[in-house]
Amino acid sequence: MSSIVYLNGQYLPIEKAKISVLDRGFTFGDGVYEVIPVYHGNIFRLKKHIERLNNSRDEVFIERPYDLAQWQGILCELIHQNPAEDHALYIQVTRGVSERDHAIEMATKPTVFAMSRPLLKKDRSAGISAIVEEDMRWKYCHIKAITLLPSVILRHKARQAGATEALLVKDGYVTEGAASNVFIVKDSVVKTPPKNGSLLPGITRDLLVELLLESDITCEEAAITEKELRQADEIWITSSTWEIVPVVKLDAEPVGTGKPGKMWQQATEIYQAFKAGMTDDV
Ligand code: PDD
Repeated sequence: MSSIVYLNGQYLPIEKAKISVLDRGFTFGDGVYEVIPVYHGNIFRLKKHIERLNNSRDEVFIERPYDLAQWQGILCELIHQNPAEDHALYIQVTRGVSERDHAIEMATKPTVFAMSRPLLKKDRSAGISAIVEEDMRWKYCHIKAITLLPSVILRHKARQAGATEALLVKDGYVTEGAASNVFIVKDSVVKTPPKNGSLLPGITRDLLVELLLESDITCEEAAITEKELRQADEIWITSSTWEIVPVVKLDAEPVGTGKPGKMWQQATEIYQAFKAGMTDDV
């Protein structure tokens, strides 16, 4: 489907948007990105997403192309030019074009790309299957880098096993999903791994922790062992585009009753109520 995208200051039909083969995003995977949902024209937690983008960018020494207001202007224009009920915005900032040389000073200007696609509402309320895989990624998973080969392979392994997501374990502890954060429930206590270099600080994760605590549901940010994961009453994964999804099968074994749990139902209601009350979330 044709759409209008943003590339380095211009709004163009997607077929006309072109970058150099020497863009370091292409040759080195040298860049960072964000995915942001838009509900009825409201950009969801824009400030938090841009803060995380800035953090990723700073960590890999890419200069800041725009401030929050400039990003907001660009994204609002994209939403306007690509009418849809809900959108998924994608932002990518690479280090730009240079000779193929590892030295970062070769590149002088970041390449900035953004697009908006309709956010398709796939019903995952019956739950998904997941597999457990070793987390073979690097030590800086808090950076939302475009270098996603390990995640692509992990998702493929899940698919090969007839599952939807791979839940990752490092040194015996759960980190996150290939493209999602992980929550478990045991005896009505919700738990999600603490934020560190082993996982992406998910915007959905952070919001859900906040909302659960406000609703007097016990939610701990604490390490989860593989054993705890396998013995959990409920497992959920979260992401901006999928929101909160129950995992009902893990490595072909039922999770809890094998059906989406009561706590997931409650968490989803709280999350949807927050979304419904949201107007301008910048
Ligand atoms: N991914 N962890 C990883 C590794 C992710 O790739 C994502 C999201 C998340 C959830 O973060 P958030 O709640 O901020 O979306 C956690 C996006 C959706 C993607 O790469 O398409």
